[in-house]
Amino acid sequence: MNEEKVKKYHIVTYGCQMNLHESEKMAGILSRKGYVATQDKSEADVILFNTCCIRENAENHAFGNIGELKKLKRQRPELIVAVGGCMTQEKGKAELLKKRFPFVDIVFGNLNLEELGDLIEERRRRKKKIVSLRDEAQGVVEYDPPLRNSFPNAWVNIMYGCNNFCSYCIVPYVRGRERSRNPENILEECRALVKEGYREITLLGQNVNSYGSDGETDMCFPELLERVAQIEGDFRVRFMTSHPKDFTEALVDVIARNRKICHLVHLPVQSGSDRILHAMNRRYTAGQYMEKVRMLKARIPDAELTSDIIVGFPGETEEDFEATVKLVQEVGFASAFTFIYSPRTGTKAASMPGQVPEDVQKQRIMRLIEVVNGLTREKSAKYVGGETEILCEDFDPKRSLYFGRDEYGRMGYFPSEEDMIGKFVRLRVDGANGVSLFGTPVSVR
Ligand code: SAH
Ligand code: SF4
Ligand code: F3S
Repeated sequence: MNEEKVKKYHIVTYGCQMNLHESEKMAGILSRKGYVATQDKSEADVILFNTCCIRENAENHAFGNIGELKKLKRQRPELIVAVGGCMTQEKGKAELLKKRFPFVDIVFGNLNLEELGDLIEERRRRKKKIVSLRDEAQGVVEYDPPLRNSFPNAWVNIMYGCNNFCSYCIVPYVRGRERSRNPENILEECRALVKEGYREITLLGQNVNSYGSDGETDMCFPELLERVAQIEGDFRVRFMTSHPKDFTEALVDVIARNRKICHLVHLPVQSGSDRILHAMNRRYTAGQYMEKVRMLKARIPDAELTSDIIVGFPGETEEDFEATVKLVQEVGFASAFTFIYSPRTGTKAASMPGQVPEDVQKQRIMRLIEVVNGLTREKSAKYVGGETEILCEDFDPKRSLYFGRDEYGRMGYFPSEEDMIGKFVRLRVDGANGVSLFGTPVSVR
């Protein structure tokens, strides 16, 4: 009769793939402590927020959601509310969080995420609230196994941190300097994943091309990528993100000769204006970027590119913006994430003159989105009547269709009587609606 009730956790994640994967690491820690996941906040014993601070709206979003917990915490004081991720690493944010949300039990950072289990136990033992943060990373942390929930894809960190200090970006301040993981550990993790049945591996780093340049290993990224692609098994490999300044012919050669590596490169350009690129401290010109694109397409004619673009950076004129639109059209991105510049305290750009008015920023992003969507639609239409192979990720109950992505990142939907999740499905493409394809399975493996 004195059987203890199973404890439950609920994690809310904001931000990028890196953060999504770190939530999987947090889930791993909690599951080893005997917790199970729940989708329902009201029955959770621990609620975790894994925050992002890349733009102001990411922060506002988290602030709003944390605030909503006040009532629940009042009803159930034994509930533990923990806030971690990039936002807590920001200067002064932990104090602000404590002040605005006195009911938060634990504030921790992404540089001491491995301590989460101990912090929760400590909070249970003692009445005191906990703020536990590290200013600097302590070497390369090898985490215990994450509890993955992204099957059939698995994310694998190859490095942490960033040294680039793009003038708009807060990441180097909240994630510390570049640290490369030991290649043997990476390869072992990948081999195990393939054995477990994962069919796609995505190698993660803020700038994967500088893997190894911190002196932790002699292996460079092209070699590591090739070694991953040579692991035996039927799976595909992706990587992100590549910084254009470090995107080399050696890397393109590796992609060209290893068919497991997807023919899609996420190569954030940020702007098409040399003046703005310089102010952003990106260390390439629009011309140099185009040269890399041409080099890639010459070696791999079917290669597609995706990008990140910022509009309304300080000092951006109509002419600068038009240069961006021109570059986007010239490259013909398969898709692109577009962002309105958001000043981040402590970054160089935040104190630059010529902040662009909001209405101008909004009008520019709308124009850019239209151009990007036009490219995406055009590419989708070209698929119709042909075939493509997708990796089935899930079932959409609203549409009653299975779906997944092809190697170029294009979403494809199809009907099936059998469960197709985790299978490579060759589709005959019957139709397209802008971003997505609709098809009929021809073969499955
Ligand atoms: N390391 C990756 C991406 C990091 S953040 C890279 O270098 O490409 C993802 C994207 O967010 C960036 O590519 C950039 O386009 C955008 N971003 C970063 N800081 C921003 C800011 N202050 N305002 C608006 N967008 C920003
Ligand atoms: Fe930010 Fe630039 Fe580093 Fe990417 S490369 S994380 S944009 S500083
Ligand atoms: Fe990612 Fe946001 Fe941090 S984009 S690296 S979670 S600031």
